[in-house]
Amino acid sequence: MKIELSNKKVLFKNGGIVEEIHPFWLRERANGDDSLDKISQQRLFDPTILNIEIGIKNVKINDELLEIDFSDGTNSKLSVDKIISELSKQDLLISSIPKIQWDSSFNNFKKFNFSEGVSESKEMYEILLSFYKYGFVIINNVPTENNYIVNFANSIGSVRRTNFGEHFNVKSIPNPNDLAYTSLKLSPHTDNPYRNPVPCIQLLHCITNEVKGGYSTLVDGFTVTEVLKKNHPNFYDVLTKVKVKFKFIDKDVVLEDWSELISLDDKKNFKQVRFSPRLDYVPLLNKNELDLFYNARKKLSDLYNSDKYSIEFKLEKGDLLMMNNYRLLHGRTEFDANEGKRFLQGCYIDFDSSEGKLRHLKRKFSL
Ligand SMILES: [Fe+2]
Repeated sequence: MKIELSNKKVLFKNGGIVEEIHPFWLRERANGDDSLDKISQQRLFDPTILNIEIGIKNVKINDELLEIDFSDGTNSKLSVDKIISELSKQDLLISSIPKIQWDSSFNNFKKFNFSEGVSESKEMYEILLSFYKYGFVIINNVPTENNYIVNFANSIGSVRRTNFGEHFNVKSIPNPNDLAYTSLKLSPHTDNPYRNPVPCIQLLHCITNEVKGGYSTLVDGFTVTEVLKKNHPNFYDVLTKVKVKFKFIDKDVVLEDWSELISLDDKKNFKQVRFSPRLDYVPLLNKNELDLFYNARKKLSDLYNSDKYSIEFKLEKGDLLMMNNYRLLHGRTEFDANEGKRFLQGCYIDFDSSEGKLRHLKRKFSL
């Protein structure tokens, strides 16, 4: 990709294609002292009140800078590299990280180690890259005192408080309002599908784990979606179209949201899975449509619950599991509460935290 000039026009060349860059697109990016706040990089003007019919009086490229005099008297020196980076979408960091599909054979994944100040280190950049590639990451030796998970979450971004509080404690308790607080097996599920928006990332921190069972399980919803799409396109189709209601009732709140079990983005690519078959209610469709939906959901559940796609590991004291709640399903194997203590703490953060931190570290270390 190249920037060229012709008759006071700025052109970009990409392969055999040559197109003019709209002068107002360039004017919006004016970066002189009158136009841009140097600290916040925010505009000092409102482009919506300017005349769109702006012209270019003079333009030249000098020392990798595009120097423009606009017809309204504004001057600007724009970095050619920055323009090319924006045009080639190289600055879309997150979407450029390839999502790597995995199944049950994925058992030698890299684990990271906690150290003081890790959130501002290159190690955190690697942690977050790995998180975006695989949908989860495990960090060993995270301090277990004083609800440290909240500090950890806030060192990446901001903890996402819910009606469960800033964080929640996962241990078996009498009369629980959720099966998580028993010692029963938990089948693969995504958390909180009834919230709008659904919490993006769950952090789960092992404070103590003395029982033999209680293994953590993970399934890559992205892998399973691709399998379903390939082998059962009619099931994939119905599960990406029919919206179901997810509902959670507690004594002082009723949470409800509608979504497909597999959501796609505007380019029909994988976006999010929600799966929690104790909480979903499909609307009454005609009998044939429901027949297809129920068969599709059963197949999806069979795949999620199949040993072929699930990994299983034991979280030890200090281990912190960070997982993408839009991509992965998680669960645990049953345990015997009489064998000892099993105590995990959890909390949520959203993608603005992980994405913001990743971009910040990229900038900080010029990566
Ligand atoms: Fe959960």
